[in-house]
Amino acid sequence: MTVSRTDFDDSLLSLALARVSEAAALASTSHIGRGDEKAADQAAVNAMREKLGEMEIRGTVVIGEGERDEAPMLYIGEEVGLGNGPEVDIALDPLEGTTLTAKDMPGALTVIAMAQRGALLHAPDVYMEKLAVGPGYDEGVVNLDMPPAARIEALAKAKGVGMDEITVCVLERPRHQAMLTELRGTGCAIRMISDGDVAGVIHCAEADTTGIDIYMGSGGAPEGVLAAAALRCMGGQFQGQLLFRNDDERGRAVNAGIEDLSRVYTRDELVRGDVIFAATGVTDGSLLRGVRRLNGSVETETLLMRSKTHTVRRVLCRMPAG
Ligand code: FBP
Repeated sequence: MTVSRTDFDDSLLSLALARVSEAAALASTSHIGRGDEKAADQAAVNAMREKLGEMEIRGTVVIGEGERDEAPMLYIGEEVGLGNGPEVDIALDPLEGTTLTAKDMPGALTVIAMAQRGALLHAPDVYMEKLAVGPGYDEGVVNLDMPPAARIEALAKAKGVGMDEITVCVLERPRHQAMLTELRGTGCAIRMISDGDVAGVIHCAEADTTGIDIYMGSGGAPEGVLAAAALRCMGGQFQGQLLFRNDDERGRAVNAGIEDLSRVYTRDELVRGDVIFAATGVTDGSLLRGVRRLNGSVETETLLMRSKTHTVRRVLCRMPAG
């Protein structure tokens, strides 16, 4: 089959997307451990934008650094790319774990996903209640309507193990205290993370190696769409429901075109069609190795995935240190 220049050729675009993600990671490394979250994020943003500008796409940022009036670059609605290829929507988080980077803690990464125009939910920058499990379970084995303990019970039953053999990953936040107390009552193990719930969700898709069976709790809605994109490539279930703290946040959702503010979205309602996903490690973490400098060269590790083929690549890139 011939592919025209304006088709969404996910195979061809994927390597370029890895370069975008790598560039952002490389740019943020000089800010690791420097205590300046904003500077670290800005470096990643600049690099990501520059590399996107080299891609043969007519791209629109649908999940980005914020609204146009609050983010000068990679804002929602910004058009990126050379303007001569396929029309694509882009979801990005140039630095997922700004605090982790500023404090030189494990797990910071850069993330970007790309899909055909209209394929990604335009999630506003509000919170989202999230629930994820890896592949191999019946659809709906757990859902957001179940109380946390009931989810553990259902998953343990489906896995054929006791509840004490289930590990749940949770973002450590005061708002999760009631949920954590309920979870403790089941006897399950809890892996707390201080930041970075995109990786937390992805870990469910590789439960055999990560030991994490289920992710739950609230975090950023943009990160929820990115995590759903990753699971669309790797397999696994995801549910997300937007959470609003005030009318301003509700207004943002309405402006983004969301009609039903209480809807529970499944993975495939957040991300439709074919999607490409790339994430590069900034600091060493359980998902990716951070940027390494060795003997005049620099090395990155990137997770590069396509939903069409369900290919999951780990790309090591060594280049001369600039
Ligand atoms: P940033 O690096 O953009 O700050 O995001 C880190 C993160 O931990 C996300 O992974 C998560 O979705 C979100 O922050 C949670 O938000 P909050 O810190 O407000 O609980």
